[in-house]
Amino acid sequence: MAEDLQIKGNTKEEKYQSIIPQIKALIDGETDTIANMANICAALKYGFNFFWVGFYLVKDNQLVLAPFQGPVACTRIHLGKGVCGTAWKNNEVIIVDDVDKFPGHIACSSLSKSEIVLPIYNSKNEIIGVLDIDSDEYATFDKTDALYLNQILKLMGQ
Ligand code: SME
Repeated sequence: MAEDLQIKGNTKEEKYQSIIPQIKALIDGETDTIANMANICAALKYGFNFFWVGFYLVKDNQLVLAPFQGPVACTRIHLGKGVCGTAWKNNEVIIVDDVDKFPGHIACSSLSKSEIVLPIYNSKNEIIGVLDIDSDEYATFDKTDALYLNQILKLMGQ
């Protein structure tokens, strides 16, 4: 395994296109979901210098903190609460340009300014959790992030 990932490119698209094959190589052949989530978090956190990257998994009808990279975070989120709980409840990707303007946003850190949350599915198309990425800058995420992050999430299911 390569000691570290190498991200090339200037644009967001180029960076994702550079990192996706490396993440694929990293998790190919590994069936342990937690291990793969852990490496995906590290690859995205250090590849893009995001403030926080982490997974929450559905357990006992709550989202429970799973592998992440970044400062400590809240451990449990109820259905419909915060950005994560809303993405889960509505079964949709949510992009928030300014977290202070999202009603009910759960502030794990005051440094977090914008956020993207993507549902994760099992083979039966049921939501098993979410991927949450926070930025310390406003309006970091857009449809390009949603597109490529979904591609990365799909790698886990292969
Ligand atoms: N901000 C999220 C909570 C998780 S932390 O950002 C790590 C939310 O509103 O759901």
